[in-house]
Amino acid sequence: MSLPAWHGNTTRGGAGHAGARGTLSGALRSRWSSWRMSRDLHLTKHNDSASGNERKRRVLSGVQPTGRLHLGNYLGAIQQWARYQYDFDCWFCVVDMHAITVPHDPRHLADETLSTAAMYLACGIDPSHCHIFVQSQVPAHAELAWMLNCITPMGWLEKMTQYKDKKQRLGDDAPVYLGLFAYPVLMAADILLYRAECVPVGEDQRQHLELARDIARSFNYTFCRKRKPHKLPSVFREPEALILPEGAGVSRVMSLTDGTSKMSKSAASDVSRINLLDDADTIRNKIRRCKTDAERELRFDDPARPECNNLLHIYRAITGNRPKADIERELAELNPSGWAGFKERLAEALVSFLSPIQQRYHEVRQDALYLEQILAQGQQAANAVASETLRAAKEAMGFALPSDQHRVFGLGIEIQERATSSTTSVAKPSVSSAMAREDPAD
Ligand code: TYM
Repeated sequence: MSLPAWHGNTTRGGAGHAGARGTLSGALRSRWSSWRMSRDLHLTKHNDSASGNERKRRVLSGVQPTGRLHLGNYLGAIQQWARYQYDFDCWFCVVDMHAITVPHDPRHLADETLSTAAMYLACGIDPSHCHIFVQSQVPAHAELAWMLNCITPMGWLEKMTQYKDKKQRLGDDAPVYLGLFAYPVLMAADILLYRAECVPVGEDQRQHLELARDIARSFNYTFCRKRKPHKLPSVFREPEALILPEGAGVSRVMSLTDGTSKMSKSAASDVSRINLLDDADTIRNKIRRCKTDAERELRFDDPARPECNNLLHIYRAITGNRPKADIERELAELNPSGWAGFKERLAEALVSFLSPIQQRYHEVRQDALYLEQILAQGQQAANAVASETLRAAKEAMGFALPSDQHRVFGLGIEIQERATSSTTSVAKPSVSSAMAREDPAD
């Protein structure tokens, strides 16, 4: 897939995409005020984009509602989503079933799920251009995950570095639950159900995307191409990871206390990350305390200086992705204050960058009805697409489907043939919509 025009460019406006700080806030404010004016339309406008003749490429992604979203989630993933939503058929999911793969507090799960959805909106995800939904409200995710569990070799899952890291973090004596091990299969189900072509994620999800591709290929080969007596069209598409290329942003934001490990929701220390909802004093305090090094000169891309590199990349990403040389020049002018001057500038840039997002978040979060309606609409749309793919997958795997679900795709053909030869009258199966038309991969 060719990358869209915004890659390495600043043409179209997700939050954080504008140039200087002032412009950024202005761009966000104008988008948000236009949202406010059209908020009632959000709930009815979805089908407009589907009426064009050309099918838009489908994008799907999600964030776990585990604790608070941080700058890494925003810069690595959500900022990209906001840019894709105008040109792609976008589906953004709050993946709450992933949040229970490690011990969780049931008193907070629902609230964190809604807060995450509100944060999507606050970050510029516009429900009149995409679908926003909650994973656990679409039962096909769990059902397909089980089917895919049954065809995924354990050896593939044992190689997943995130699994190994999380297991290590839990400690030797802690039980490791099956859900944590099988987590990447659920993620594959999330993506494959929507037959998404593109999955915008941070660098840390690359391996999971490879696995999703392997699972899709294995399923299509076993149950479609090699199926007897009739070969079937592929059920799944092989998704492509969309990871920000160097130059267009940061695909891996590192911890503030250790430039060699990624910024993470699950890191024990809160000072290791900038949460999107941190207030100004907290941000200033975290940046004041963050790890630096003994050198005064501030330069990009020195592998021996991971903290310096991380902070410079964050600064660049939130101030319009200017050329690195420009930023180095700007910071050289700060000398002799060196690190102290830079930290102050970075903290203030973060405060200005996040404050419009926070303002919008609080507005949305307080309007429970609005959020509920957006999610109900997302659920309905997601259910329609997901249940169709699930039905095709079940048919390919050989499940007996209820009679109202038979199609000409696979099992439906056999039923029809049997009915014709035995002269039993069976209603003509309806043609399997998008599935048969869209994917003539075989
Ligand atoms: P999660 O919830 O850990 O992170 C959500 C998104 O944020 C990105 N991200 C980062 N990017 C840059 N730097 C960081 N420090 C950083 N930390 C997180 C992640 O790459 C991700 O894009 N398994 C996924 C959630 C998921 C999913 C899906 C994603 C479940 N099903 C289907 C896409 C499609 C996860 O745990 O992300």
